[in-house]
Amino acid sequence: MNHPIRIAPSILSADLGRLAEQVAQVEAGGADWLHVDVMDGRFVPNLTFGVPMIEALRRLTRLPLDVHLMVVEPERYIRVFAEAGASIFTFHPEATTHVHRHLEEVKDHGMKAGLALNPSSPLALVEEVVDELDLLLVMTVDPGFAGQQYIPAMTGKIRRARRLLDARESAAALEVDGGISRETIRAAWEAGADTFVAGSAVFSAPDPGEEVRQLRRLCLVEV
Ligand code: DX5
Ligand code: ZN
Repeated sequence: MNHPIRIAPSILSADLGRLAEQVAQVEAGGADWLHVDVMDGRFVPNLTFGVPMIEALRRLTRLPLDVHLMVVEPERYIRVFAEAGASIFTFHPEATTHVHRHLEEVKDHGMKAGLALNPSSPLALVEEVVDELDLLLVMTVDPGFAGQQYIPAMTGKIRRARRLLDARESAAALEVDGGISRETIRAAWEAGADTFVAGSAVFSAPDPGEEVRQLRRLCLVEV
């Protein structure tokens, strides 16, 4: 397999009282991106971060900020998140209507554009816009909370997503999010994912930086 490996620790599981230190730890461990989960209490039953968190992270690091919007009408936030310093803007097609238009708007604002699919959502939802995508996110839990179990049936969906991107000669990142840990990362990697969000696995580890290294190693190890 010759695609890259990106590890994206999810700030949702960080100790926010020590945000700067936690960011520095995962950066030292070689984290590629920081994943920022934006939830509105409507698309998902939880509330998290908005513009101030993205601005704060932007001041703390030069790592790409991989912003995952679990909100209805995500298009309302394209401009403000771009201004706050978001690098990648990933939204759910289930949460809006004019997906193609909004992908264009995201790119017009200088960000990379991603689409995320809930476990129950078919890949067909993104098929018509594959050529517009910088990133496809296959959710491996139902979004809303950190610390949930990876849904094993999603491994087959990752494989099909990989085939879809390859068939269209797409260079989009294939990201997975939810329950990614030492136990699950290898299966997702072998199925064709190249970008791995990890929240509780990284930030509940005694050394978050070392955990980032370990997750990457588990993809690279020869079997
Ligand atoms: C889940 C979020 C995830 C979450 C992952 O709704 O989209 O990014 O932070 O957390 P873990 O890795 O603990 O499942
Ligand atoms: Zn996420």
